[in-house]
Amino acid sequence: MKGVILAGGLGTRLHPLTKVSNKHLLPVYDQPMITYPIRTLVNAGVEEVLLVTGGNNVGEFIRLLGNGREYGLRWLSYAYQEGVGGIADALRLAHEYAEGEKIVVMLGDNIIEGNILSAAEKFQATDSGAMIFLKEVENPREYGVAVCEGDRVALIEEKPREPKSNLAVIGIYMYDEQVFDIIADLRPSARGELEITDVNNAYIERGNMTWEMLDGWWGDAGESIDALYRVSALVAKGGANKLCL
Ligand code: DAU
Repeated sequence: MKGVILAGGLGTRLHPLTKVSNKHLLPVYDQPMITYPIRTLVNAGVEEVLLVTGGNNVGEFIRLLGNGREYGLRWLSYAYQEGVGGIADALRLAHEYAEGEKIVVMLGDNIIEGNILSAAEKFQATDSGAMIFLKEVENPREYGVAVCEGDRVALIEEKPREPKSNLAVIGIYMYDEQVFDIIADLRPSARGELEITDVNNAYIERGNMTWEMLDGWWGDAGESIDALYRVSALVAKGGANKLCL
């Protein structure tokens, strides 16, 4: 499966750290943030990644990552997102790169303790559709939140004021080629962005969405300065991207 990592945006929640630097180049313990999602995808068997960037210091990604070989990739490509049109707007730039194949998409500020290898293999074996990962959290209001009916995810609500569960939708998504038609039909949300949650809800409406619970801890290091330090401490304590938990 081809991989896509989204690392655009302005990172305003991390001001002033991101006034000059790109959020994804900030350190998480002893490595730049962006290297963690690359490792997650490599551990899931991905050899080829498209990195979508934007905002500050985009040239520095090439300085850091080069052709990706040092990080275990066979091929690393780059795309530039103009503005901050949202996660789904950034993903749109991967249309031609995907060439009709299934893709695994990861947000550049998400870091996990374990790996998604078995889920990726499971998704590869399915005919079509999408897969998301859920994780129990204490602060669901900060995330996309799953509304469940029995075993089924019936809806995802983006940063709801009154969350109907404590199950966050983490920033790793697997899609078939329908994702680009879905994005083409999206309308911007109230905050003016094309939302990944709307993409996922479109798959749910089509009855074409599966989900997995994520094992091990998960962190959104871009959520706040506190979160950045929390995730750094977790990495310092036991490491991230473990092949076995
Ligand atoms: O971390 C998981 C959460 O990520 C999900 O639970 C939410 O459903 C999802 O909307 C997203 O919420 P965030 O508020 O954390 O998204 P954020 O704006 O921080 O963007 C996440 C990543 O996507 C970030 O690392 C950069 C990239 N991005 C974001 C925007 C707005 C882009 O590449 N382009 C963009 O225009």
